Amino acid sequence: MCGIVGYIGNKQAYPFLIKGLQRLEYRGYDSAGVAMIDNGQLNVYKCKGKVADLHTFIGDSNTKGTIGIGHTRWATHGVPNDVNAHPQYSASKNMVMIHNGIIENYGPLKAELKKRGHVFLSDTDTEVLIHLIEDIHQKENVRLGEAVRIALNQVVGAYAIVILSKENPDELFAAKKGSPMVIGIGKDEFYIASDATPIVEYTKNVVYLEDEEIAFIERGKELKIKTIKNKAKTPYVQELELKLEALEKGGFDHFMLKEIYEQPRSIKDSMRGRLSAEKGIVNLGGITEYEQKFINAKRIVFVACGTSWHAGLVGEYLFEDLARIPVEVEYASEFRYRNPIVYEDDVIIAISQSGETADTLAAIELAKSKGATIIGICNVVGSSIARATHAGSYTHAGPEIGVASTKAFTAQVTVLTLMALRIAHCKGTISSSRFHQLLSELEAIPDKVQKVLEKNDQIKFIADIYKNSTNALYLGRGYTFPVALEGALKLKEISYIHAEGYPAAEMKHGPIALIDEEMPVFVIATKGTSYEKVVSNIQEVKARKGKIIAIVTEGDTQVKEMADYSIEIPETDEILVPLISAIPLQLLSYHIAVMRGCNVDQPRNLAKSVTVE
Ligand code: G6P
Repeated sequence: MCGIVGYIGNKQAYPFLIKGLQRLEYRGYDSAGVAMIDNGQLNVYKCKGKVADLHTFIGDSNTKGTIGIGHTRWATHGVPNDVNAHPQYSASKNMVMIHNGIIENYGPLKAELKKRGHVFLSDTDTEVLIHLIEDIHQKENVRLGEAVRIALNQVVGAYAIVILSKENPDELFAAKKGSPMVIGIGKDEFYIASDATPIVEYTKNVVYLEDEEIAFIERGKELKIKTIKNKAKTPYVQELELKLEALEKGGFDHFMLKEIYEQPRSIKDSMRGRLSAEKGIVNLGGITEYEQKFINAKRIVFVACGTSWHAGLVGEYLFEDLARIPVEVEYASEFRYRNPIVYEDDVIIAISQSGETADTLAAIELAKSKGATIIGICNVVGSSIARATHAGSYTHAGPEIGVASTKAFTAQVTVLTLMALRIAHCKGTISSSRFHQLLSELEAIPDKVQKVLEKNDQIKFIADIYKNSTNALYLGRGYTFPVALEGALKLKEISYIHAEGYPAAEMKHGPIALIDEEMPVFVIATKGTSYEKVVSNIQEVKARKGKIIAIVTEGDTQVKEMADYSIEIPETDEILVPLISAIPLQLLSYHIAVMRGCNVDQPRNLAKSVTVE
C-alpha cells in the first residue's frame, strides 16, 4: 500500500506528481505529500487527507522544480496526520524520503539513533530510515547513494523508497524490497512510480526494479542500478502494454461502476485465445509445461486474500468436481505462519488481482522453499507475484481501480474454470459430452452477464429499499456459497453495513438468531442440485419474518412467490453460476453505498494493494 511517484527531467515535476498520485490513490488515501527542489530550495508540502486536499492545501505556493517526489499514504506506523504524512525529513532537513512498506526493525534502529542524539518528529518507521541514511552519509563521509546502500543492509522489512536531497539536485535515489517500483524512461527524463499507471501516458519504456536493487537516477545520464550487496546490474527495459483509456472513468460516475459494466468484455478477454467450443479446445499457454504437475498432484492448495480468496473457494469446487483433485483453500496470512505441511508434489495456486499482496507473496516463497510447484493467477502483468511463480495465467481483466474488486473476481473465476476444465480433460475425469457442453456454456457467459447488467434499474430500486439496513445476511450453497461471501464482503467494504455470508444450511447454527423483520437476507437460489434445499432455508428465514431478496433463474416461480423481491438471471450450468450471480450483488452494493453517500471507489481504511502483512 501507499503510492509513490518521482520525476527528474526537463519538465516541471509537480503536474506529473499530483496526477500520478491521483492514479495511485487506490493504494492508500489517508494523507499525501510532495517535495520539489527549486533553485537550491527544498519545498515540501504534505497534509492529512486525499490528494485533492493536498492540491488545495498547496494552492499558489511554489511548486516549481524539475525534480520531485510524491506520496499517498495508507497508515501503518502512526495515525494519519500532517506530521506522519510523507515525505519524511532527515535530521538536517536537507533531504526527504517517501516510503511504501514497513521497516520491521525500526524500533531498535530508532533507539540507537536516539542515543546518538537524533530527535524524531513523527511516529513513522520512514523517518527512522532517512535519519539513518543521513547519519551514515555524514559520519562515514560517503556519497549519499552509498549511504543508502549501507543503510539498507541494516534494514529488516519491506520498502520501496525514493530520496530527494538538496545536495543532489540532479539525482534521485530509489530502492525496493518487497514493495513494487517502476521506472519509466523518457527522453532525458525519468518517471518513478509504484506501478505503471502514472507513467503510461509519458513513456512506454519501463524498468521494474528487483528486490534489493538501488537505482541511481541522474539527470541527463543513463539509469544505473546496483544491488545492496554492491553488484552492478544492467537495467532491463520492457515495453508497457497498458492503454491510457483503461485508466479513465469513461463517462461512469465511479470506477467501480465502470468495472462492473466492463465484465462482459473482461470475461471475454480472460477467455480470448484460450477457448473454442467449436473446436472443443481449452488451452492455457502459460501452464502447458506444468500440466503434468497438476496431473500428478495429490493436492492443490489455493493461497489468496480477500476477494481473491473467494475466487479460490470457487476454484475448490471446480477442481474437485471436474478434475477430482483434493483442494485446500488457505488465507495466505494464516498459511504462511502456520508451519504448514507442503509436499513436493503439491500444486500451489496463488490468486491475486494486484500481484503485490504481501501475505500471498510470502506464502508463495514458503511453499516454493518446500519444493512445491507454484502457479499464479494474477491480473497485473509483471507484478511481484506473477514473477515469483513458476508459471501461471494472467486474468487479462485490465486495470481495476475501484478498491472493491469486481471484474477481477469474475476474471479469476473464469481462468479457474478454464484451468479446471483443461486439467479435467487431460486427466480424463470429465466425459467428452460434458466437456463440450461446458465449453459452449462458458462461451455464452459474457452475453448472459450483459443481460444481468440490463437489470440495473430493478437492482437500484431494491437497493433503495434496503439502504438503511444495519445488518445483512447472504446465503448460498455449493458453487454459490463463495458468491454469498463475496456479496457480503462487497456490501460491508463500501457501504459499511455489517454483512455476513453463510452456507445456507449452516445458517441454522447461529445467524438465524439475528433474523427479524428488519434483516434483509440475500439468497442465491438458482436452479441446481441444492435448489430444493435452498427453498427450505428460505422458508426458515420467512418463518422468522426475515426479508428475502432472491437471485433466481429466469422463469423461476417457486422462490419468486416466497421472496419479497427477486432478481432473475439467465440460466446456465450450475458450475458457472458464480460468474453470473456475482453481478447483481455487486450492483446492489454499489447502489446502496452511493445512496448512503459513501466513497465507493475509496472506502475508508481500505487499500487496493495490501503490500504490508
Ligand atoms: C485488498 C483489496 C481487495 C483484494 C485483496 C487481495 O483487501 O481491497 O479487493 O481482494 O486486497 O488483493 P489481491 O490483489 O491479492 O487480489
